[in-house]
Amino acid sequence: MAGGEREPLRKLQDHYFKQAKAEGYRARSVFKLEELDQKNHLFHRGMKVLDLGCYPGSWMQFAGKKVGAQGLVVGVDIQELNLSLAANMAFIHQDIFKLDLATLAQYALRWDLVLSDMAPSTTGNRVADSERSFALCSLALDTAQLYLKKNGRCLVKSLQGVAQERLLKRMREEYTKVKNLRPQSTRKESKEVFVLGIGKKGEEQHDNDIIGTL
Ligand SMILES: C[S@@+](CC[C@H](N)C(=O)[O-])C[C@H]1O[C@@H](n2cnc3c(N)ncnc32)[C@H](O)[C@@H]1O
Repeated sequence: MAGGEREPLRKLQDHYFKQAKAEGYRARSVFKLEELDQKNHLFHRGMKVLDLGCYPGSWMQFAGKKVGAQGLVVGVDIQELNLSLAANMAFIHQDIFKLDLATLAQYALRWDLVLSDMAPSTTGNRVADSERSFALCSLALDTAQLYLKKNGRCLVKSLQGVAQERLLKRMREEYTKVKNLRPQSTRKESKEVFVLGIGKKGEEQHDNDIIGTL
């Protein structure tokens, strides 16, 4: 291998990459979720969790353990998930742009926690990448507005800069408390940040009202 090719590979296979592999997780991003959970108590037993952009599945693996047998973790991704799913997990192979209530209602009508680790394919153009990121974040927030319980939580990955500012503005309108988070395991050169909305505002929707819209 040429010297120039060695550096990126070394960076990719960093400490977290190796640790994820050793612990049987599908991706190093599990440690971001673990750290966010340790500091913000995202999970509890019996929770229903919707994981948007779940492939290759490390967040599902982690969330599945945290919510336990009485809980539920449903992942959605445009990529097929070749992960053996525990009894408390399910996968929807779909573009989030096309996700609807009828599909989600097969699993649950309302959710306790919506996670979005969705990332757009980047172009290298700062403005275009920011727009794409914001579009995905907006969809995650739309999904949370529709299906998250009152007082529920929503964690969304964004990019630092304009996209993040717009995301924060919207989330402050929709959640009682909003936190800007950057886990230590995020690569130094990465522009990603996470925004956590705590306490979804608004009225609780009753099951019959939701079913009526089906
Ligand atoms: C960084 S990965 C998620 C990693 C995952 N949290 C894990 O720990 O294994 C981002 C995912 O978002 C998905 N994604 C991007 N746009 C999407 C869309 N419109 N609908 C569904 N999934 C999407 C990608 O296919 C990709 O698998």
